[in-house]
Amino acid sequence: MTVEQIYQQMYHKLNRFLSEPEIRIKAKLVWHINKLKKERNAVILGHNYMEPALYHFVPDIQGDSLELARKAAETDKDIIVFCGVKFMAETAKILNPDKIVLCPSEKAGCSLAESITAQDVRELKKRFPGVPVVAYINTYADVKAEVDLCCTSGNASKVVKSLESDSIIFLPDEYLAKNVARETGKKIIFPEIVAGKPVIKESDLPSDMIGWRGRCEVHELFTVEDIASVRKQFDDVVILAHPECSPEVTAASDYSGSTSAMIKYVEQTKASRYLLLTECSMGDNIAAAHPEKEMLRLCSHRCPYMNKITLEDTLEALKQTRYVIEVPEDIRVRALKSVQRMLEIS
Ligand code: 13P
Ligand code: SF4
Repeated sequence: MTVEQIYQQMYHKLNRFLSEPEIRIKAKLVWHINKLKKERNAVILGHNYMEPALYHFVPDIQGDSLELARKAAETDKDIIVFCGVKFMAETAKILNPDKIVLCPSEKAGCSLAESITAQDVRELKKRFPGVPVVAYINTYADVKAEVDLCCTSGNASKVVKSLESDSIIFLPDEYLAKNVARETGKKIIFPEIVAGKPVIKESDLPSDMIGWRGRCEVHELFTVEDIASVRKQFDDVVILAHPECSPEVTAASDYSGSTSAMIKYVEQTKASRYLLLTECSMGDNIAAAHPEKEMLRLCSHRCPYMNKITLEDTLEALKQTRYVIEVPEDIRVRALKSVQRMLEIS
């Protein structure tokens, strides 16, 4: 495709979101990225939170964490460029040790992944010996290496139900854990951390689930008051919340699911308007693909990490082979077991 053809397609899809000069600049960047992608035999994976021009015109595969992990496991290309955050690119590397995996920004972290260390998991295992440990995919490789099994927002309840154990340690997202506990009818407790060690009152035991107090710094900001106020303004609105939102918020919403599950829900239902309680780029992406759907979103809460991934940096990633994701082999091999076990279950 020529730059002009990309421009025409981009203008048609995104003119309600972007100005004409911006579309011209972005069309050129997309053309360069696509050219280099072919020359370098690369595949580009794009998370649902990427900004609209990047999301709709660059990735070979778009999706949520689970779908992208599955696709990363299947690729035969030499280079994987992961337009998403670092823990996602690391998962791709865990599954593809012989390929070059690039994340376009060094600053694409995640507050959940930062909330727990491998040492924290070792302390929990010491305190609760023999209890299986499930880690949300929003963790770094050294944490995944310490656990039995991973899960994503798309399969968390299924993964928990698959474990035939009286008790499960579920890390690190407090809200996802509470949402899963509610869905599976389990009792959950949260140890207090004193001098790096988990402390629990004997009276709280036994418990079906043992959680950790990590939070997504974006989803924790949505409140039931936001929901009430939007419902008052638009009484026909359908509200969708990501399971990283508090259990009060998911309970007050009409639907809760992974980012791809939310997209499918909007595509498959007929409402006049929707409110998405998640990173607001996803609302732009759905609205661009489905102009007939009115998407409300609360864009004052943005993921500062997903937003670090730009067209410019994706181009530089391909030009300069940067930033290369490395996972030490002993950690990768152990982390692979928990990721593979998850992929088998889902
Ligand atoms: P999904 O797996 O639902 O795409 O979620 C990833 C994420 O980081 C949401 O904040
Ligand atoms: Fe992490 Fe939250 Fe950003 Fe998702 S939205 S990458 S969980 S900080």
